[in-house]
Amino acid sequence: MAVVGAVVCRQAQRSDLTALLTLIPQIERDSCSDGAQVPALARAEAIFDQMVRHGNVCIFVATVADGTDIAATCTMTIAPSLSHGGRPSATIETVVVAAQRRGQGIGKQLLTYAFAYAREAGCYKVQLITRGRPDQVGFYRSVGFSWEGIGFKVYLDRDDSSHGG
Ligand SMILES: CC(C)(COP(=O)(O)OP(=O)(O)OC[C@H]1O[C@@H](n2cnc3c(N)ncnc32)[C@H](O)[C@@H]1OP(=O)(O)O)[C@@H](O)C(=O)NCCC(=O)NCCS
Repeated sequence: MAVVGAVVCRQAQRSDLTALLTLIPQIERDSCSDGAQVPALARAEAIFDQMVRHGNVCIFVATVADGTDIAATCTMTIAPSLSHGGRPSATIETVVVAAQRRGQGIGKQLLTYAFAYAREAGCYKVQLITRGRPDQVGFYRSVGFSWEGIGFKVYLDRDDSSHGG
């Protein structure tokens, strides 16, 4: 399906939550990840309000058509730091493009927007951990990430963290 109208990237608003709760479950499911699970709307609203109060967490969306059709999202956390001369760093999570909108450049536009936001906030880097599926690696390389270091995770609500993702 071709994109109809311009892609516009912006911060999510509270009124976008219903659409986001439909979009986020379109993240690729695999046996080791519960990333596709979303909370009920009331809890999502409370979490959103908490993010706004926190100030360092942003949900970004890419819209198409008349600007209300949310085609993609990602979440960026900006962490203040005492290293790197006191410059913050950014972490991106929950990257999802609507299944019928993939392969149209929307994900790349959204992450380019997120990078610009991080740069404006003075961040010295943007980082992201992916499970390393070839499609994810191809996408993240294309938008400018390079493979560096080794990522570690501990899943705090699992007995066996060796299967984390
Ligand atoms: C991965 C994902 C975010 C990519 O978004 P997208 O909008 O389809 O990607 P784009 O059309 O913007 O592609 C941008 C670039 O990535 C590359 N790319 C996209 N999908 C790819 C794939 N499956 N394999 C290899 N490269 C890919 C494109 O070729 C393009 O490269 P180019 O600009 O050099 O030509 C999207 O497919 C998605 O939401 N997948 C499911 C959710 C998911 O897995 N999220 C990641 C969680 S870590």
